Amino acid sequence: MTEIYKFIVNGRSISVDTDGTTPLLSVLREDLSLRGSKFGCGAEQCGACMVLIDGKPECACSREVAAVAGRTVTTVEGLSDNGALHPLQSALLDEQAGQCGYCLSGILISAAALLASNPDPSRPEIIAALDPHLCRCGIHNRVIRAVQKAGAAMAGARR
Ligand code: FES
Ligand code: FES
Repeated sequence: MTEIYKFIVNGRSISVDTDGTTPLLSVLREDLSLRGSKFGCGAEQCGACMVLIDGKPECACSREVAAVAGRTVTTVEGLSDNGALHPLQSALLDEQAGQCGYCLSGILISAAALLASNPDPSRPEIIAALDPHLCRCGIHNRVIRAVQKAGAAMAGARR
């Protein structure tokens, strides 16, 4: 049986008429056409589907849509600001931190949450925050440099 679920996605109020057990990732990708969040494992093992729920990184593959009713969801599409790239997105480009790119939307989400709570993370803190994310292309060192660069850019912008 379907029901209407309301929540906020990337600052927009959303209503979807669906089965409450539908994974949030399916609703984002299929109902809302937000295809940045990726399906990898479906079992909280790869991080490709990571989104922010009330500001906290969570796997959209394993969250039922009923569990996000009334809450705020941010996907990778919501990181930019009126078309201006998030400093993390710019830093990833600068560092050429990507090959196939499949893992990157999830990594961006976790890195954005890290910098929101810890603007000047150490290398071990970045590694710990990105630990849930698998990258088969081996871009880890470039991503770490990009997160450090974005943190510095954001700190400079605040001065
Ligand atoms: S698809 Fe969700 S963690 Fe892998
Ligand atoms: S860039 Fe290919 S999986 Fe990470």
